[in-house]
Amino acid sequence: MRSLRKTLLLAVLVSVVLVLALLHSWPTRGYSTVDVWQRRGPLLQERNLEDKLTESDHQLSSIPIRVRESVASLLARNSCVCEGDSGGLNLPFSQLLFPRVSAHPLHTAFRPSELEELKRRRAQEYQSFQRRSQTPADVLIIAEANSPLQFPTQGLEVRPLKTIIIPGLALHDGPRDHYTVNFTAALGTLNVAAEVEGVRLKGDGESHMTVTSSALNSLNRQLQFVTYTNTLFHPSTADTVQFETDRHQATFVIKIRHGTTPKLYNTGSKQEYNVSALVTIATKTFLRYDKLQDLIDSIRTYYPTVTIVIADDSEHPKSISGPFIEHYIMPFGKKPAVSQVTTKYVLWVDDDFIFTANTKLEKLVDVLERTTLDLVGGAVREATGYTATYRQTISIEPGEEEGDCLHMRRGYHHVIEGFPNCVVTDGVINFFLARTDKVQQVGFDPRLARVAHLEFFIDGLGSLHVGSCDDVIVNHATKIRLPWVSQSESDKTYAKFRYPPASSDATQTKNGLLYFKNRFQCLTRN
Ligand SMILES: *[C@@H]1O[C@H](CO)[C@@H](O)[C@H](O)[C@H]1NC(C)=O
Ligand SMILES: *[C@@H]1O[C@H](CO)[C@@H](O)[C@H](O)[C@H]1NC(C)=O
Repeated sequence: MRSLRKTLLLAVLVSVVLVLALLHSWPTRGYSTVDVWQRRGPLLQERNLEDKLTESDHQLSSIPIRVRESVASLLARNSCVCEGDSGGLNLPFSQLLFPRVSAHPLHTAFRPSELEELKRRRAQEYQSFQRRSQTPADVLIIAEANSPLQFPTQGLEVRPLKTIIIPGLALHDGPRDHYTVNFTAALGTLNVAAEVEGVRLKGDGESHMTVTSSALNSLNRQLQFVTYTNTLFHPSTADTVQFETDRHQATFVIKIRHGTTPKLYNTGSKQEYNVSALVTIATKTFLRYDKLQDLIDSIRTYYPTVTIVIADDSEHPKSISGPFIEHYIMPFGKKPAVSQVTTKYVLWVDDDFIFTANTKLEKLVDVLERTTLDLVGGAVREATGYTATYRQTISIEPGEEEGDCLHMRRGYHHVIEGFPNCVVTDGVINFFLARTDKVQQVGFDPRLARVAHLEFFIDGLGSLHVGSCDDVIVNHATKIRLPWVSQSESDKTYAKFRYPPASSDATQTKNGLLYFKNRFQCLTRN
């Protein structure tokens, strides 16, 4: 009696805990939103599919078809072009009122004489990049109709040099004298974890194994114990296993990889977010020490103990000191990755921003803690009161030998459920909170130190899940130049580096990197 009551009590307790756990995890799941994966260039998949279709369907090709243009035009054609909007008025502010798309070729970053050699090298680098980034798991595999073979089509995984049981194998065949199936692997061996009477094995422990029996049931029983052992070490690849019987062949893929090693931060108990424990504020400065001091003072008003990391690449750096400040002097023209940051999150700010009561970092921390986003931007308020988030969507269209087309547009993909002020997008302004390890993975390209910032989001496309919230606002020290206020000398030097004219070396450097490093032929933006 007593023990019954105890069991009952335990059962009630367990279900309460389960319900609580479900309620707790429910909202988090609701936020998991659309990912921004891009299709990578022309893959083996398509070629394979084409071969298959032309090979087996020769009779079918005489049957006429009608193309449905509205759908067909959505398919990637692998021959993109960049086109801008033509015409339109050229008034002052017209870009602000009616943003038009402009198109920019990128190969102009190079002299015509060096372009051919450069194209060749880019193609070479691209090929080896493709080889590195593709595994047999990228190849499309079609399960033929009416195959008596039952097998797993996806989701098999083994750690390097380890063994798994291959689940789901079976043969469904009519009556016969005897039944035979063969297995062939490329990067490992096959075996059985248990033997079944009346079943003959050949080649067990090798990369080609034959299983034979006169009883179908015995054979199927045996197939429940087939194992795969990876023998050729590679930290991340895949093996293709062939599974065949008379006249029928199947292929399935086993991914070979280590589990992802987690990188967790112990941030203490969470009654309220402790920004000092969770966030490091990172900025770079270049000559503008007065602005930097204003930024530091404004941060200290609201976050007295948060660590501030300053990367300084001025030619003649001044010293900056104070509690919770780390000042790193960088070689001229370089800036560090955020390698100095040890907190879970890093807040990136420009050195001419000013914190106010609206700069609530807790809100940004909350978004990252409760969603699958890696990075979330805020808004910047200009001295005029104009506030903007500068959201950008980025997409890449596959091109042929000339390279791919890069398209950037103002805007976003969708609002984040539960955070009405926040949206999912691909690129944001220079005021964002990010998971430190994700920023480190993408990396800042030091060659773009001062000229650009959206390039970071282009590099991160497909691996960074980006959001933007308009209710966390930082102020911008005025950039609007009034004719009666003379620019200080250091401001002038700065402007020269920061806002290079279109024909300048800095813009050419940027275009050159987009052309070679990212293999783009052109870009459009509005
Ligand atoms: C299985 O493999 C053996 C040895 O390689 C071969 O002789 C046999 O024809 C194969 N059987 C089937 C059904 O593929
Ligand atoms: C917040 O974190 C900082 C740094 O880890 C720590 O010194 C401080 O005591 C924490 N504050 C609270 C209220 O827990």
